[in-house]
Amino acid sequence: EIGYKQQLYEANRLAARYFYYQLTQGQGKTALAYLENRKIGEEYRKKFGLGYANFYRDDLLQFMQSKGIPIQVLLDAGLAMEDKGKKGSHYDRFFNRLMFPILDVQNRIVGFGGRVLGDGGPKYLNSPETKIFDKSRNLYGMNLARTSRGGSILLVEGYLDVISLHQAGYGNAVASLGTALTKGQAALIKRYSDEVVIAYDTDEAGIQAALRAFPVLKEAGLSVRVATMEGAKDPDELIQARGPEAFGEVLGKALPGFMFEVRTMAARTDLEDPAYKTQFTREVARKILMMEDGHERDNYIAAVAKEYGIREHTLGSLVNELGNQGG
Ligand code: CTP
Ligand code: MN
Ligand code: MN
Ligand code: MN
Ligand code: MN
Repeated sequence: EIGYKQQLYEANRLAARYFYYQLTQGQGKTALAYLENRKIGEEYRKKFGLGYANFYRDDLLQFMQSKGIPIQVLLDAGLAMEDKGKKGSHYDRFFNRLMFPILDVQNRIVGFGGRVLGDGGPKYLNSPETKIFDKSRNLYGMNLARTSRGGSILLVEGYLDVISLHQAGYGNAVASLGTALTKGQAALIKRYSDEVVIAYDTDEAGIQAALRAFPVLKEAGLSVRVATMEGAKDPDELIQARGPEAFGEVLGKALPGFMFEVRTMAARTDLEDPAYKTQFTREVARKILMMEDGHERDNYIAAVAKEYGIREHTLGSLVNELGNQGG
């Protein structure tokens, strides 16, 4: 079993090397131009081991077989697939895509993400879960972020956000790769840091994902902040448009997780309307009541009251009242 996993790691390593060389060969020109366009320089392209899966549908397969890798290993590593129409015939999972190797914290390649270069979807194609790739226990970039001296971990959505951030000097960025953050991923962060700053995309999906990630991270014992960016859809876009310093400003203004939650609630109602504001205040009081630490409760009563023009005494009483009613 351990020996077989070893074979899968080795297959991925060899595939990554093949993709890496393809990128700088003649046929990798469009992929290389794409990276240039996205302002990813040579140093970071190499640091993240980016590559190119060219447009032939079985060249990786041929290459790997010529190196003596059995087809079953390629299937189990998620690199090859069986042709449904033609049993016993196989082809590459990835073709004509920019390739991102996914490394675990021991620097083993556990899988790949592949981005389309032209039109046509899906935008990203990822390795399936395999014997060596448990998506719920991995974070893209953690192999590098774990040794960064930032103190906190920066949690973003995508491959390019991570690479852009590292290139801009934020070597503590990791990505959950577009899936809902799991307990296993939160525990992985906690191994290296006590504080996490979420900088997900600014669209509705990103906001929802941040709201769902917050309790999972908190539950793991992490202190959580949420960065909010204006005028850019994700950290990569912000950095490309306004530079690394602009992202620094965003970080400086990151809100405690709870204040982000409250702000999202506020944005969804009309606080000029006394009926809605009353409803909002009760809702917030109910959430504050759920905090276990009395000191924390007091601090958030004060902070919310100040931010939203509610008398501190009023909010405090409301929290107590709800508490006496048993929630
Ligand atoms: N993702 C995925 N499959 C998709 C779309 C997204 O796995 N079909 C994951 C990828 O890990 C991707 C991340 O979600 O890096 C963020 O996706 P998205 O925000 O949609 O990417 P964009 O920022 O729009 O695109 P780009 O990566 O080109 O910046
Ligand atoms: Mn190919
Ligand atoms: Mn997104
Ligand atoms: Mn993006
Ligand atoms: Mn994005």
